[in-house]
Amino acid sequence: MSIVASPNLEVLYTREQISQRIAEMGAQITRDLNGEKLVMVGVLKGAAFFLVDLSRAIEADATFDFVATSSYGAGQRSSGAVKLIKDLDQPIEGKNVLIVEDILDTGLTLSYLRKLFLQQHPKTLRIATLLDKPSRRIEKIEADYVGFSVPNLFVIGYGMDYAERYRNLSDICIMTPEHPE
Ligand code: IMP
Ligand code: MG
Repeated sequence: MSIVASPNLEVLYTREQISQRIAEMGAQITRDLNGEKLVMVGVLKGAAFFLVDLSRAIEADATFDFVATSSYGAGQRSSGAVKLIKDLDQPIEGKNVLIVEDILDTGLTLSYLRKLFLQQHPKTLRIATLLDKPSRRIEKIEADYVGFSVPNLFVIGYGMDYAERYRNLSDICIMTPEHPE
């Protein structure tokens, strides 16, 4: 969907900026893999667009898996507790695993997933997040690969939603209190 469909939104990162940054992240991940295989685990639904684009920027023998956790629900505020709604399809023991997330915010989701995945003894476990909001952190966790570090704004587009809407905006936009109408 183009920005024209929602003309009052302010663009934070354009699709070109996103694509450029993902190319850089993919090159870095490719270097760090050193020719080894990779399992990319996307956190549904927000990370879907990022996983698809990032996977094509990585030169490696890669497979995909997806998990889903409970999230923000209908509004902008976190419910606090994280719950697994959809588990991995395949075991990750001995694998190089890359968790792919849209936003690292309070850190509750990724701390939960990291702990859960480590119990399966992957060979390596790394995290790639497109956006990082370090000022919002509750759990102490950092991503290995960060697209953009952002201030405390609520963003939508490129997979990210407000009450399940706006995921199909091609740019990352700022959600203002005046929006949606
Ligand atoms: P965390 O558990 O607080 O780190 O947040 C994890 C999830 O909250 C992210 O994966 C997003 O799905 C959602 N989230 C956090 N900030 C935003 C935002 O600004 N826009 C849309 N979703 C967000
Ligand atoms: Mg998410």
